[in-house]
Amino acid sequence: MSASNAQDQIELHKALAPRYAYRYSFEFSRLFQEDWHAEMLRLLPPRSRRVLDLGCGTGFFLAELAALRPGAVGLDISHAMLRVSEQYVPGARLVTADAERLPFVDRSFDAIFCKGSLHHTRDHVRFLSNCARVLEPDGVLIMSEPCNDNFLIRWARAVMYKVSPHFHPDDKGFMKDEIVELMERAGFELTYAGRYGVLAYLLAGFPDHLGVLKWVPGNAALVRRMIALDRWVCSKRFLRILSFQVVVAGKPRAPRA
Ligand SMILES: C[S@@+](CC[C@H](N)C(=O)[O-])C[C@H]1O[C@@H](n2cnc3c(N)ncnc32)[C@H](O)[C@@H]1O
Repeated sequence: MSASNAQDQIELHKALAPRYAYRYSFEFSRLFQEDWHAEMLRLLPPRSRRVLDLGCGTGFFLAELAALRPGAVGLDISHAMLRVSEQYVPGARLVTADAERLPFVDRSFDAIFCKGSLHHTRDHVRFLSNCARVLEPDGVLIMSEPCNDNFLIRWARAVMYKVSPHFHPDDKGFMKDEIVELMERAGFELTYAGRYGVLAYLLAGFPDHLGVLKWVPGNAALVRRMIALDRWVCSKRFLRILSFQVVVAGKPRAPRA
C-alpha cells in the first residue's frame, strides 16, 4: 500500500480553489458542467435519499445534488475548496476529511457521487472500500474519472500531470477495465460503465486551462452543439475511445451483516 498523499493534495488545492471559481464563471462552461452532472445524476435511483458528494471541491455539483436531495453532504480534504462552495451552496452540510478514512458510520448513505476525486488519491482500493462501508447494501456509487483508454489522451494527460503546477505528478487517469477491477477488489459489482466528454469537455470544461472559447461569439450555442455531438460520439462503439471520462456505477457486492 502506498503512503497517503493527503498533505500534498491539501496544499495543491489551496492554490487551485480560486481557479475553480473562475472555471465556473462562464455561461458556456457552466452549460457543459451541468450536462456532465446530468450524465451522473441520471444514474441516481429515485429511492436514494441520503447522498454524499465525495471530493466535492468548490461545491458546484453539490449545489445541484442538494437541490434534488436536500441534506446532501459534501466532503473534501481541502478546506480551501470547501470555503469557495459557500457561494454555490450556502448552508450545505460540509465535512473536511480524507476519503480514505471516511468519518461516517457504516450504512450512512444511499448514494455516493465522486466526480474526479479518486484519481487524486494513492490508495484507490481503500478509497472505494470506504465507500462500500458507508453505503447501504443496496446503495450505489456513481463516479466520473479521467479515462485513459485512448493512448493519445493517456500520453497527453501523463505529460500534463508531470509538468503542470496545477496537478500532482502522482495523479493518474484510469483505463476503463482498470477502474472496474478496482471497484471489484473493493467489493462492488459494476452496474453501469459509459463514456463521456469529447469536444465540449476539451474546449468548454476548463477555461482556466484552455480558454479559447472565451473569445468566440455565441460560445454558449456552440457548446450546446458540441455536447450533442459528443453524446453521439460516445454512443458509437468505435468512436467512444475519443472520450476523456469514464462514468461508472456500482453497488456493494454482497449483503453485509
Ligand atoms: C478535480 S477536483 C474535483 C472537485 C469537484 N468534484 C468538481 O467536480 O469540481 C478533486 C477534488 O478531490 C479532492 N481530494 C483529493 N484527495 C482527496 C482525499 N483523499 N479525500 C477527499 N478529497 C480529496 C480535492 O481537494 C479536490 O477538491
